[in-house]
Amino acid sequence: MALCAPIQKLSPASSLSNGNNTTPRRTRKNETMIVRMTASSDVAAYEEGQLERPKWAGETPLSRLVAALISFKPIYTVLKFGARQVLISTAEKNNIPWREMSKEILESDVYKEMESVQNPSTVYPDYYLSPFHAYDEGNLSWLAAAEAEAADLSMTRRAIPFASSVGEANRIMRGNWLETIKQHHQQYSGEIRDILDIGCSVGVSTGFLAHYFPSAKVTGLDLSPYFLAVAQYKEKRGTPRKNPISWIHANGEDTGLPSKSYDLISFSYVLHECPERAIIGLLREAFRLLRHGGTIALNDIAPKSKTLQELSPVLFTLMKSTEPFLDEYSLTDLEGRMKEVGFANIKSVLTDPRHRTVTASVPH
Ligand SMILES: C[S@@+](CC[C@H](N)C(=O)[O-])C[C@H]1O[C@@H](n2cnc3c(N)ncnc32)[C@H](O)[C@@H]1O
Repeated sequence: MALCAPIQKLSPASSLSNGNNTTPRRTRKNETMIVRMTASSDVAAYEEGQLERPKWAGETPLSRLVAALISFKPIYTVLKFGARQVLISTAEKNNIPWREMSKEILESDVYKEMESVQNPSTVYPDYYLSPFHAYDEGNLSWLAAAEAEAADLSMTRRAIPFASSVGEANRIMRGNWLETIKQHHQQYSGEIRDILDIGCSVGVSTGFLAHYFPSAKVTGLDLSPYFLAVAQYKEKRGTPRKNPISWIHANGEDTGLPSKSYDLISFSYVLHECPERAIIGLLREAFRLLRHGGTIALNDIAPKSKTLQELSPVLFTLMKSTEPFLDEYSLTDLEGRMKEVGFANIKSVLTDPRHRTVTASVPH
């Protein structure tokens, strides 16, 4: 059984806040809670399975059986409902107050943010308009936007089952991702002045990036104006930053932003939501937007994860029923595609038991 290369332990001085040992996180009351971010001894090697990808992905008999089940509408409807119930109840069992968090957003003034974040000329690619994550309107709804942060925390908790709390799970999962990015950029380039977080959703990854790289100008970009409205709403109510975040409503495949204007472009949990043609489009656009020596960081589901390869049939069937592009993502040779686009220094590491962070550079 292969063991992936361990990523370096976070040293005591190296915390999630990149030198400062606290990071703000909103509580359900929308106050700012300080989560201790002191370094950990828990960054370990995470295990790879023996396969290239799980048996439930691709052209295996098991995968075909799951696909046939999902494509049958009455079964899909039951699965979709089941997947949603599992998500909510698992979150609440883990002290993530899913319904309360969502109610608080839905009953707030968030709707007023829409006008300032939405770009009415944004064109949605066809894949984006299909049902997604058990929401009929996919990411284009207030309910999806209101539930996104709870869903994010829940995913984090599932990824790090050995953590004692959601805060600790966040510190490990996001800390390993940020540390991997920092190490890559330090090795191949210099300062990080401008960061673009493509597929920023409601701004969780963007907030972590802004906090970890406090001297950088950080922009979050997403295709869902609903998610961006929540991101902007929460950011306005959070602790003011020295480096306030800007939000852009656009397609990450065709942003209209100036070439060579970023040092770091991050895609955090975006690619498994995209068909391969969109993944290639996103990689090409990132290559255009990065300066020479700039870093691209892709963190997402790891097909080689032992945990995911051993997932129970019930769980992976539920997961696939709400993730229409998971198969295509799992079959994509990401590193190969990155090389074709022109990226160099491509490295992939499991940064938690379920996820990998792939980093690469635009050649100097
Ligand atoms: C799971 S969420 C990302 C979560 C967030 N980055 C984090 O780490 O907390 C995936 C996001 O990708 C966005 N997305 C998908 N395709 C996109 C595209 N072509 N351009 C911009 N955003 C896209 C979706 O709207 C969604 O908000």
